[in-house]
Amino acid sequence: MSSTSRHRSQSNGQNPILLFTPPPQKSLSLNSQSSISLFMEQRTRILLLLSFFIGFVIAVPDSASAAESRVDDRIGELPGQPLNVGFSQYSGYVTVNRGAGRALFYWLVESTVGGKPLLLWLNGGPGCSSVAYGAAEEVGPFRVGADGKSLMMNPYSWNKLANILFLESPAGVGFSYSNTSSDLYTAGDQRTAEDAYTFLVNWFERFPEYKHRDFYIAGESYAGHYVPQLSQIIFQKNQGVQNPAINFKGFMVGNAVTDDYHDYVGTFEYWWTHGLISDATYHNLRLACNYQSSEHPSDECQKALDVADAEQGNIDPYSIFTRPCNSTASLRRNLRGHYPWMSRAYDPCTERHSKVYFNRPEVQKALHANVTGIPYPWETCSDIVGNYWADSPRSMLPIYQELIAAGIRIWVFSGDTDAVVPVTATRYSIDALKLPTVINWYPWYDSGKVGGWSQVYKGLTFVTVTGAGHEVPLHRPRQAFILFRSFLENKPMPR
Ligand SMILES: *[C@@H]1O[C@H](CO)[C@@H](O)[C@H](O)[C@H]1NC(C)=O
Ligand SMILES: *[C@@H]1O[C@H](CO)[C@@H](O)[C@H](O)[C@H]1NC(C)=O
Ligand SMILES: *[C@@H]1O[C@H](CO)[C@@H](O)[C@H](O)[C@H]1NC(C)=O
Repeated sequence: MSSTSRHRSQSNGQNPILLFTPPPQKSLSLNSQSSISLFMEQRTRILLLLSFFIGFVIAVPDSASAAESRVDDRIGELPGQPLNVGFSQYSGYVTVNRGAGRALFYWLVESTVGGKPLLLWLNGGPGCSSVAYGAAEEVGPFRVGADGKSLMMNPYSWNKLANILFLESPAGVGFSYSNTSSDLYTAGDQRTAEDAYTFLVNWFERFPEYKHRDFYIAGESYAGHYVPQLSQIIFQKNQGVQNPAINFKGFMVGNAVTDDYHDYVGTFEYWWTHGLISDATYHNLRLACNYQSSEHPSDECQKALDVADAEQGNIDPYSIFTRPCNSTASLRRNLRGHYPWMSRAYDPCTERHSKVYFNRPEVQKALHANVTGIPYPWETCSDIVGNYWADSPRSMLPIYQELIAAGIRIWVFSGDTDAVVPVTATRYSIDALKLPTVINWYPWYDSGKVGGWSQVYKGLTFVTVTGAGHEVPLHRPRQAFILFRSFLENKPMPR
């Protein structure tokens, strides 16, 4: 199984209560101007000078240090990067908890076009890296070559439409670290959301030109938890604030863990209707798992899941009709073209190439990553973080209801050949919201070909991408690009 598998462990989940206090606002006191009594013109000039001076004194130390780290974060060029890419990149650390020594690693890929919105992209797991998946094989500008050294351009990179901010979250994932090593064993939904919010607040201080810019969040899989949870914090913090710095407009999630009950019902149905498991296992799964937590299932449910896993055999559950990545021997064989039936071949071993690339010291240097000497290698997914995952509430639907009522734009998409968080799971979860339909189920088109299907509900747009697996932009980059464009324009998928 590839490493994005949704890890399961036995600790008890609790309901997260999202309590978080933002860092105190700097207060400034202005000196009285009453001592200035001069002619009107002169006085205005002096006031102007004075306010300039005050602004200077107050602004300089902050913007200087911000500009400093900003300059430090600028990526000159990544090893193996094609020439003249036509956009700027920044990467580095933002401290989210000084006491514990937690710092999150980000990689900003600016748009090729000015003035575009900002998109935060998150991958799931829990424990998986947005650099490994989102940036290097989904929506980022580069794909890693099979040599683990070269980078190739992704013609459907989302940075043609927006500035993309990849965040490795929580601490312990990828280059994001904690100096308190026990943090890796106690991560859960609540801290992940709080740290991500602190990250954003501090990141906007470093990149003030992105304050007030239209801001969106997107992600897939277990980020089906992260994205709505972070959206909820931002929305609640923005309440009552005039002209909020974070100009949050909406979110989009793909093949997203949404509601454990409906996700399980739909997942087992998908396995059975696609002939991946036996009748008996289908029956047992429904008995043992339907009312279980997806992150913390009972032993009985886990046993049934293990049987299902064995029955599925050596397939790629993230993309059931494409070959899985296997040993290097089979990789070499595959590269000689032994899979002629794969019409739209992609490289199923791409995360292995990333593992080589991002562990290269010169790559880490160029990215300003791992500056503190993290005592373990960069992994596409952290097993520790995933296996010890703490709180994982069973449903995101109450957050959907809150944000739909608030008019936040919400799009949900699904690659329909994924058996990990399948399209049927997402459909049952969305159905449970009982939203009125605005546009009924229809095929959407890309140059005369069906790209998938869509239904527009009041407050939520659902889009499937046909032939795409768990990582929609990896398998169907062009269709994913059209999806993102439609989302930003807030227009239904093209007919
Ligand atoms: C973690 O510890 C290293 C080494 O002491 C230090 O340089 C770094 O600033 C610490 N990180 C944070 C986020 O405090
Ligand atoms: C995958 O690798 C395993 C062990 O290396 C091998 O036994 C198996 O035959 C391989 N399967 C395929 C489909 O290449
Ligand atoms: C960080 O760098 C050290 C060498 O200083 C290396 O051993 C380790 O694997 C690296 N870890 C990560 C997460 O990149």
